[in-house]
Amino acid sequence: MLQIENLHATVGETAILKGLSLTINAGEIHAIMGPNGAGKSTLAYTLGGRPGYEVTEGSATFDGQDLLALEPHERAAAGLFLGFQYPVEIPGVSNLQFLRESLNAQRKARGQEPLSGAEFIKLAKEKAALLRMDMEMLKRPVNVGFSGGEKKRNEMVQMGIIDPKLALLDETDSGLDIDALRIVGEGINAIMRKPDKAVLLITHYQRLLDLVKPDFVHVLAGGRIVRSGGAELALELEEQGYEAVA
Ligand SMILES: Nc1ncnc2c1ncn2[C@@H]1O[C@H](COP(=O)(O)OP(=O)(O)OP(=O)(O)O)[C@@H](O)[C@H]1O
Ligand SMILES: [Mg+2]
Repeated sequence: MLQIENLHATVGETAILKGLSLTINAGEIHAIMGPNGAGKSTLAYTLGGRPGYEVTEGSATFDGQDLLALEPHERAAAGLFLGFQYPVEIPGVSNLQFLRESLNAQRKARGQEPLSGAEFIKLAKEKAALLRMDMEMLKRPVNVGFSGGEKKRNEMVQMGIIDPKLALLDETDSGLDIDALRIVGEGINAIMRKPDKAVLLITHYQRLLDLVKPDFVHVLAGGRIVRSGGAELALELEEQGYEAVA
């Protein structure tokens, strides 16, 4: 589904990704761990097409298409979803408006009919219930005044409604209380653990991986993948730290 080869990317003048290669197949859940500043968010942003993240070498192919040649909205329409480490607030735009516009723009790009207001509300209610999010929260402006944990949970409601093929989730577990972590973990499984979908989880902690069991775990350090293994690699990291393992 996603094939990244020898990816190099710079932010401003600084080279951050330095030859990163990673392949993710449909049906797989991958976790990326690694020290602060290693380039994990940079990888997510570069794949998402955030302005200012410049690819200087290498390639990324998504479902056979040159991902890096697409505009961010085209990447989304192709089925890529990015859950932000720091979700942004959008004053003046309600969550429901934002999500309906996003979903229908993507449906249009895929040649599908837009959802009617009633169909959309039914879908939103279903996904909000899955994430135990009050519908009243979805009527509020996107993330404005939401607590840290509420923002993260809202990202997962968005993911449920958008129903992407590939989700890049950047520290979705950080800031969640114990109950919210379980709800989010179960939500990720319910929405994304399917044979035609894949997930890349960026995380610092084993607790999310206890819920969303990864097929592969990678260590990103110094802008590249320095080690890959199965779920047991995360436990080894937790015990020994990055210096010993990477
Ligand atoms: N606009 C920028 N200009 C210069 N350097 C930047 C810029 N944005 C990010 N960086 C640097 O890129 C490096 C990688 O940052 P990134 O956010 O990808 O790390 P990360 O692996 O996600 O870390 P964390 O675990 O703390 O979230 C950091 O050293 C950061 O300071
Ligand atoms: Mg980060």
